[in-house]
Amino acid sequence: MNVLVVGSGGREHAIVTSVAKSPKVDKIYCAPGNAGIAALAQCVPIKAMEFDKLADFAKEHDVDLTIVGMDDPLVGGIVDAFEEKGLRVFGPRKNAAILEGSKAFSKDLMKKYGIPTAQYETFDDYNKALEYLETKAKFPIVLKADGLALGKGVLICENLEEAKAGAKQIMEDKKFGSAGNEMVIEQFLTGREVSVLSFVDGKTIKIMSSAQDHKRAKDGDQGLNTGGMGNFSPTPFYTPEVDKFCKEHIYQKTVDAMAAEGRPFKGVIFFGLMLTDDGPKVLEYNCRFGDPEAQVVLPRMKNDIIDVCEACIDGTLDQVDLQFEDNACVCVVLASDGYPVSYEKGFPIHGLENFEGKDGYYCFHAGTAFNDKGEIVTNGGRVLGITATGKTLQEARANAYRATEWVQFDNKYMRHDIGHAIDEFKG
Ligand code: AMP
Ligand code: GLY
Repeated sequence: MNVLVVGSGGREHAIVTSVAKSPKVDKIYCAPGNAGIAALAQCVPIKAMEFDKLADFAKEHDVDLTIVGMDDPLVGGIVDAFEEKGLRVFGPRKNAAILEGSKAFSKDLMKKYGIPTAQYETFDDYNKALEYLETKAKFPIVLKADGLALGKGVLICENLEEAKAGAKQIMEDKKFGSAGNEMVIEQFLTGREVSVLSFVDGKTIKIMSSAQDHKRAKDGDQGLNTGGMGNFSPTPFYTPEVDKFCKEHIYQKTVDAMAAEGRPFKGVIFFGLMLTDDGPKVLEYNCRFGDPEAQVVLPRMKNDIIDVCEACIDGTLDQVDLQFEDNACVCVVLASDGYPVSYEKGFPIHGLENFEGKDGYYCFHAGTAFNDKGEIVTNGGRVLGITATGKTLQEARANAYRATEWVQFDNKYMRHDIGHAIDEFKG
């Protein structure tokens, strides 16, 4: 088989790594890919939003299966564009990717089908939103731009002043562009956040192992929100009781709701859950693998990823016995110092060869490129996801931190407490 993966980050490097393990696969392409992915796949300089060019490439190169990693092309309809040309592609169509693409849609879906989530109101009129904030809001309160906003469209506001300023940014100043044409105002929830990825074939859902992210830039969960500074899988906080509750009240209900709306979902649903005192609630849905969740979940998956993706496309996921290793995995992100605000890039990365032939260790590239001398250099805020497995979370964490020392570049920055939550778990 020839396989095309669409995307360029650590998530796509993890997907390509899983695809490369499949005995069914002859050739892997990745568009646009990065310097690490280039070791396993032929990188193709076509951007993820250039659907026609990508589909033409897939036709010309006899691509049998395309796997889309990123949210923007999925929400924009890449799957529909491929299907129109008779190509097999893994991911939701545009009418199902709206589960991530519109927060107003997903909140209304949860309300209609009784799926637990934070209480909310939606607004397409700025003045009505202000009136609500002035008369009805309880603080802190959460404002969400309806559409995709590079993960930045959620504002947690401590008081009325902050909320009014936030509503202005989203709806009036259009800081997130048309994503702010509508806005959700929602109740602030407290609890521990966990991520659960799943495979879905339109009717059947199979849950992958859980994960837990660290979004803040600095140790002790301080500093600004980032795309994620590291994570681990499984999380002990996702207990059998939580799993049972979510299976009864969240997972299958979501899949059935989408089907009932005439929007059958095929692909990955990523459930962002808050474990509140009141039980688990859905914070958000994503329509794709998480980044860096894929980096800690996929290395633990026993199944051939090609078999699972094909079962999702064919509607035969009920026949797949999805299995994960009884181990743990930790990913520590090596970032450019100054991320997520401003940072230099273009520094040569040394020591990447230390990962060669080391079972259970992965160096997933997120922001890397080749310079004109052919050296691999830093090319983004998040540079590498240093990932290791272990028998336990503690062992995986020690392995991952040991491996962070194998790679060097100027302005290398990381958190030193990834996985600290493990020590707080009192099971
Ligand atoms: P989202 O893009 O919806 O995942 O939101 C980004 C982050 O904002 C989440 O990962 C949470 O940490 C936080 N968040 C979103 N909604 C809420 C909420 N209702 N209460 C508290 N925190 C929230
Ligand atoms: N790790 C969060 C995300 O992929 O959206």
